[in-house]
Amino acid sequence: IRCQSTNTNEPKTRRNLLDNASNLLTTVLSGGSLGSLPTAEGAVSDLFGRPLFFSLYDWFLEHGSVYKLAFGPKAFVVVSDPIVARHILRENAFSYDKGILAEILEPIMGKGLIPADLDTWKQRRRVIVPGFHALYLEAMVKIFTNCSERTILKFEKLLEGEHSSGGNAIELDLEAEFSSLALDIIGLGVFNYDFGSVTKESPVIKAVYGTLFEAEHRSTFYIPYWKFPLARWIVPRQRKFQNDLKVINDCLDGLIKNAKDTRQETDVEKLQQRDYLNLKDASLLRFLVDMRGADADDRQLRDDLMTMLIAGHETTAAVLTWAVFFLAQNPSKIRKAQAEIDSVLGQERPTLESLQKLEYVRLIVMESLRLYPQPPLLIRRALKPDVLPGGYKGDKDGYSIPAGTDIFVSVYNLHRSPYFWDRPHEFEPERFLEQRKDVDIEGWSGFDPTRSPGALYPNEITSDYAFLPFGGGPRKCVGDQFAVMESTVGLVLLLQKFDVELKGSPESVELVTGATIHTKNGLWCKLKKRSDK
Ligand code: HEM
Repeated sequence: IRCQSTNTNEPKTRRNLLDNASNLLTTVLSGGSLGSLPTAEGAVSDLFGRPLFFSLYDWFLEHGSVYKLAFGPKAFVVVSDPIVARHILRENAFSYDKGILAEILEPIMGKGLIPADLDTWKQRRRVIVPGFHALYLEAMVKIFTNCSERTILKFEKLLEGEHSSGGNAIELDLEAEFSSLALDIIGLGVFNYDFGSVTKESPVIKAVYGTLFEAEHRSTFYIPYWKFPLARWIVPRQRKFQNDLKVINDCLDGLIKNAKDTRQETDVEKLQQRDYLNLKDASLLRFLVDMRGADADDRQLRDDLMTMLIAGHETTAAVLTWAVFFLAQNPSKIRKAQAEIDSVLGQERPTLESLQKLEYVRLIVMESLRLYPQPPLLIRRALKPDVLPGGYKGDKDGYSIPAGTDIFVSVYNLHRSPYFWDRPHEFEPERFLEQRKDVDIEGWSGFDPTRSPGALYPNEITSDYAFLPFGGGPRKCVGDQFAVMESTVGLVLLLQKFDVELKGSPESVELVTGATIHTKNGLWCKLKKRSDK
């Protein structure tokens, strides 16, 4: 479900329609099989006025950490509780699938990990996870750096032009720049394809954005008209979507064929010896074809690649966007990050080893994921009846839910819960270094970094499911370390050279949500050469 931020100039007809819909659907189911759950009485206009996750937060404060939200005949259970989240995501994970999310994504990702049925998921997850080993990540750090340098070079050239006409700052939509950067990185890292989108446009790039746009549209539209048999031929945007999919699929099919045709024993040997840094192509596709060639047909490989392209692109771009949004309002934190970068790297490039030492920049990434988790809601559907724990505030006997119950685990609510975080809405990367020790809740083991020794970032284990930057349990993100390092490198290279300010006020940056939280009109910033250099 997607909701746009308030627009007071909204046409009257649309407002009237919303009001009518609201009158019709304000009806809240009070009984039924979810009868024992506290119920949020929301009007549909609540949903249209602003992003859904804001309303879910207000209802969480009002109704508690597990509540029912019903619109007309449809009810959802909203979970904002670490104990219940742990039950759904880890302890009883296989009693749930991705429900509505899988229905929306299946036409795009086929049997990729996110929408896949359980049998396919088990088989593919076993094959894909080993692809993200330490040497692969080391090779990826080079790619992250090369691509980020390309972006920085572009900014430097723009700034030079500006200097020659007397200015000292450039104005840029950094969200768009991060989106191009993340696309280039995911293309190279997953299937060794250089979109080159930082510097050019291409039909494949347009098709990727078209597909993302359609996925977002589908997650926001209440009637799945695209399922009607002729929709793909009759409805223009559906025809365009089919064309976009074909462009990407043809590109991926070509890459898979090429990877299979160029499979060389030496490469396989190098892979087996894990000689990654000497490989020309260290991509995940190479790994899957060389090491696991027999495991999957071309269609399955294509679904895997498409899934990682979509899952790894917008998410990382959003993390970088919000990290800069918060940093730009906190110049002292920019200075602190720059001091760390200067002392660890000077003007050198980051490496896997030096990245470990860039702790403050990494915590900036994690803090922006706390405040704007990507995605803000995890979606599940119960495959069989279950009893959800009551959580820390609810009924001690728990809540029975029937098979088919749709659940939103609100990561946004968990990450801003006043019960678990001090000053939950403030941007304080330092909080992870001095986590509060005074929260004593039965059934929840508190924040404790020693539970995950050597972890790259604070996570669901160290927080016992109060902090879920990459989900948790068996369906946890496979690209978590990839993404943390990628975002850290992107920020490091930016702050090594530049100071950032917002062009307008923070309030003028409006939010829109689809799968991720992004801005309505871009993140317009002023970039200047660092003043202390
Ligand atoms: C799953 C977040 C980057 C591939 C997930 C999930 C989250 C997440 C929260 C769990 C979804 C659920 O439980 O329903 C993020 C964030 C990223 C990021 C915040 C960037 C900052 C990436 C990258 C890749 C990737 C770079 C691939 C290279 C996947 C895949 C899954 C997944 C394949 C499905 C795993 C499964 O169901 O087994 N991601 N992700 N993600 N992510 Fe990521």
